[in-house]
Amino acid sequence: MRGCGKPRKDASSKRPRRAARRDQAARALREDSPPYGTAAAGTPPQSSPANTEIGGCSQEAPLRFIDLFCGIGGFRIAFERAGCQCVWSCDWDRQAQITYEANFGERPHGDIHTVAVADIPPHDILCAGFPCQPFSIAGVSKKLSLGRKHGFEDKEQGNLFFEIANILEYHKPAAFVLENVKHLKNHDKGRTFQIIYETLTEALGYTVYHKVIDAQGVVPQHRERIFLVGFRKRRYFEFPEFPREGPKLESILETEVPEKYTLTDHLWNYLQAYAAKHKAAGNGFGFGLVTGKDIARTLSARYYKDGSEILVWQGPSKNPRRLTPRECARLMGFPEDFKIPVSDTQAYKQFGNSVVVPVVGIIAKAVVSALRRPADSPSELVLEFGERNDTADTSKPKARRMPVKYRIGRKRT
Ligand SMILES: C[S@@+](CC[C@H](N)C(=O)[O-])C[C@H]1O[C@@H](n2cnc3c(N)ncnc32)[C@H](O)[C@@H]1O
Repeated sequence: MRGCGKPRKDASSKRPRRAARRDQAARALREDSPPYGTAAAGTPPQSSPANTEIGGCSQEAPLRFIDLFCGIGGFRIAFERAGCQCVWSCDWDRQAQITYEANFGERPHGDIHTVAVADIPPHDILCAGFPCQPFSIAGVSKKLSLGRKHGFEDKEQGNLFFEIANILEYHKPAAFVLENVKHLKNHDKGRTFQIIYETLTEALGYTVYHKVIDAQGVVPQHRERIFLVGFRKRRYFEFPEFPREGPKLESILETEVPEKYTLTDHLWNYLQAYAAKHKAAGNGFGFGLVTGKDIARTLSARYYKDGSEILVWQGPSKNPRRLTPRECARLMGFPEDFKIPVSDTQAYKQFGNSVVVPVVGIIAKAVVSALRRPADSPSELVLEFGERNDTADTSKPKARRMPVKYRIGRKRT
């Protein structure tokens, strides 16, 4: 049964009806998105009690979420589109706060360490794309580690994951959605992920599902990120299937691009020489030269430096160019009316740090549907018995060869 015990490989991607679900995901992406940032913008945090989760979450009231480490609000757009209401946001980066406020009408709270957990409003879903940091549990049990910052290597700012854990422990939201780099699973030889997983499951009691998702099925960018979805009560959940192939870069490129985005001779010569040097040494470094028929490499927060990971080919007689900030917004699935009130440098950093909005949007809808269904109870679970096919040993009594294969899940309809 997924969601219990030790971290294990994702099984959901191997499930049947994959193709149908992929089509469904592709259809969902073509849907017109409702305007965002209007319903909840400027509304004060709700102080109603946390959802009691009797059966499914209330059908009428919008589910409330908090937007932790919100950056420029990628999670917020996605969850508002799924019908949820943002009741609190937090990010200490002043430039990100400017973009967030321009789009959502409210300035996020600053450093999470300065916020008392009780001052965060009750919520149903905790959303967080948190920075990946090292930590060590040498001599500190995971239960003891909750709420304490000592024992962790990152003494300067404490470990942000444990800020999330503290909020989960205090507010007990019905669900959470966490996002991080794919590398989180291997970080510190797997210890980081193990601590995170065990804290969420064993210490906090959530049922946790996780999957690495590549955004290239929905935007023209190869971008793999790990998502962890947790439910306080055991709930049936499967990550939606994403299309394997999606749009190409031509769908996001602007037609008239100012000259300032074309690389100078100096920078272009430097990048070519650097790539040649590394190639000669047998290293893989190279710039990512693309045309409209390609998809881009992962946009990083460092794109503002030289743009080398995604350079747009402009023909043989012209140097390539960087993406414009608007093209970066599109590459991350942000809507056309998303305001970019900061400098190009800041905008590149902000989009490079962000989530791909339609990826989170699809997950958000699946999480909301799971919360609207009644939590799994034993009567809803089925045990399917069948004969084990691999038993060739006919010498054993028949009774011992009977029902050993089983499946636990919801009834198939
Ligand atoms: C990976 S980014 C998340 C971006 C966001 N998911 C989005 O869609 O734009 C992590 C964010 O955590 C913020 N952050 C890091 N340390 C923080 C702290 N101590 N308090 C509040 N925010 C913090 C950073 O400023 C950064 O914007």
